[in-house]
Amino acid sequence: MPSLSDALDRALADALAEARYPTKRLADSAQALSHRYRAGVDPTSVVLDADIAAAAYAAYRMPATHAAVVAALSEVAALAPDFAPRTVVDIGGGTGAAVWAAARVWPSLAEATVLDHSAQAMSLGRRLAERADSEAVRRTRWQRASLGNTELPPTDIATLSYVLSELTEKARGSTVRAMAGATLAVVIEPGTPAGYERVMAARDELIAAGMHVVAPCPHSGTCPIPRGQDWCHFAARLGRSALHQRLKTATLNFEDEKFAYVAAAREPWPTAPARVVRHPLKRKGLVSLRLCGADGLADSIVSKRDPAAYRTARDTSWGDPWVTGGNDR
Ligand SMILES: C[S@@+](CC[C@H](N)C(=O)[O-])C[C@H]1O[C@@H](n2cnc3c(N)ncnc32)[C@H](O)[C@@H]1O
Repeated sequence: MPSLSDALDRALADALAEARYPTKRLADSAQALSHRYRAGVDPTSVVLDADIAAAAYAAYRMPATHAAVVAALSEVAALAPDFAPRTVVDIGGGTGAAVWAAARVWPSLAEATVLDHSAQAMSLGRRLAERADSEAVRRTRWQRASLGNTELPPTDIATLSYVLSELTEKARGSTVRAMAGATLAVVIEPGTPAGYERVMAARDELIAAGMHVVAPCPHSGTCPIPRGQDWCHFAARLGRSALHQRLKTATLNFEDEKFAYVAAAREPWPTAPARVVRHPLKRKGLVSLRLCGADGLADSIVSKRDPAAYRTARDTSWGDPWVTGGNDR
C-alpha cells in the first residue's frame, strides 16, 4: 500500500514525540482544525497560528496531503520519464508535504523552497525536514510570504497543494498566474465538488497564461464533465500510523485521500491518450472503463477476446492512463 516514505513517517513520529504534546491535546487541536477547514477558512486569518495547531496539522493531515501530491506528481513523472527537475517552489507549503513528495518522485531534486505565512508550520516543517533522507528536503529554504502579489523565483516545479480555499479570489488568481513561470505547475485540492471547481479555475488560468495541460486531462480543451452534476477526482490510499489512527479515532489502518489536481507545463508535454476517471468495473471476462480522452468522456468495455488489452485492463486502476483499445459506447 503506498504510504508515507519511511523517513517522513519516522520524522513525524520523532518530532511529535519530542514536542511531548499529550495525545488528547493534539486530538482536540486536530478536531478544531478539522471544524475550521469544514466551515471554510477566513482568508484574512492564519489557521496554523500556534505550534500545537501546526503539530496537529502535521499529524492529522500531512500524511494524506503528502500521499495525494505523490500520486499526482507520479502521474506527471510517468508521462515524461526523462524529466529530471532540480528545483521546486512549494507555495503555501506549510509543513512541507509537497517538498517531500517531489523529492520522492524525482530524486534529481536539488533545491526546495517553501513559501508560507505560518511561522509555526514552517518551524515544524524545518524540524521534520532535518530528518529527511533527501538532501534537497534537508536543505529546504523556508520563507515567510503572504500570498497575493507573490513573485516566484525561477523554478522547474511549482506546487500549490490544499491552499486555494484559504485564499481570497484575487490571491488565488495571482498565485496561480505566478506559477505559470515554472516549467511545471501542479495544483492539488481536496477531491470534493468545491475542490474540483477551484482546480478548474486554476486550469483555466494556467491555459490562459500559455501553459499546456499535462494531467489528469489528456488535452487542454474544455473539461467534458457536466458542471454541477459530477466532478473529476482521484484517490490515494495511505497507511495510517498508530498516532494517526488515535487522532482520528479510526479503526482502519488505512485511508483513501480523495483529491483533484491539474498539472500544466510551459512547453508541450507528452500526455496520455485517455485517463481512467472512475474505479474500473471488473466482472468475469469483462472490464468496464470510464475514460476521459480527447473526444470527451466514453465508457469502454474490454473483453477477454482481446487478451492483451484485457490483461492490461485488469491491472488498471482509477486515475491511470489508458493507452490500449476496447469497445467504446
Ligand atoms: C491546508 S494547509 C496545506 C499545507 C501543505 N501545502 C500541504 O499540502 O500539506 C494550507 C497552507 O497554506 C498556507 N496559507 C494559507 N493562506 C496563505 C497566505 N495568504 N499566504 C501564505 N500562506 C498561506 C497556510 O499557512 C498553510 O500552511
